[in-house]
Amino acid sequence: MASRRSAKVARARRILILNGPNLNLLGRREPEQYGPQTLREIEEQLRSYAGSRGAEIRFVQSNHEGALIDAIQNAVGWADAMVVNPAALTHTSVGLRDAILAADIPAVEVHLSNIYRREQFRHQSLIADVAVGQITGFGAFSYLLGIQAALHLLEKESS
Ligand code: DQA
Repeated sequence: MASRRSAKVARARRILILNGPNLNLLGRREPEQYGPQTLREIEEQLRSYAGSRGAEIRFVQSNHEGALIDAIQNAVGWADAMVVNPAALTHTSVGLRDAILAADIPAVEVHLSNIYRREQFRHQSLIADVAVGQITGFGAFSYLLGIQAALHLLEKESS
């Protein structure tokens, strides 16, 4: 007779990737700053990398603070971790910061450009101290590093 104790089946790790305002313009927006790749191209690369690591991603971009906050709230119970490029909201949004805190989902903050090599107002991140860590300045590769960091974190947690 089969045991009544159900075997724990490991499911794929789930990662929310969140992109803030103007990142939909990647590829034609200040390419010297943000690189030549479109957000769609970055998404495809991340999907394929996540797949190769047995992980699942949900990819969201919005120009609206409230929609990003909704996406974080909707990820509760689904996402194991999130990789967040809050774009300009990095420097201004208490709402996004509070949403990350409330969700209690480990977050990795990423930026394409190195925000510390740019204007003074970009040096402050309202997200940095509620994130597990920050990756900044590696172009589209920052996202890949972000997923790696998130998976590393989850592996460490479960070991
Ligand atoms: C950014 C840096 C932000 O300062 C800027 O407002 C962005 C993009 C980055 O990925 O380098 O929109 O988050």
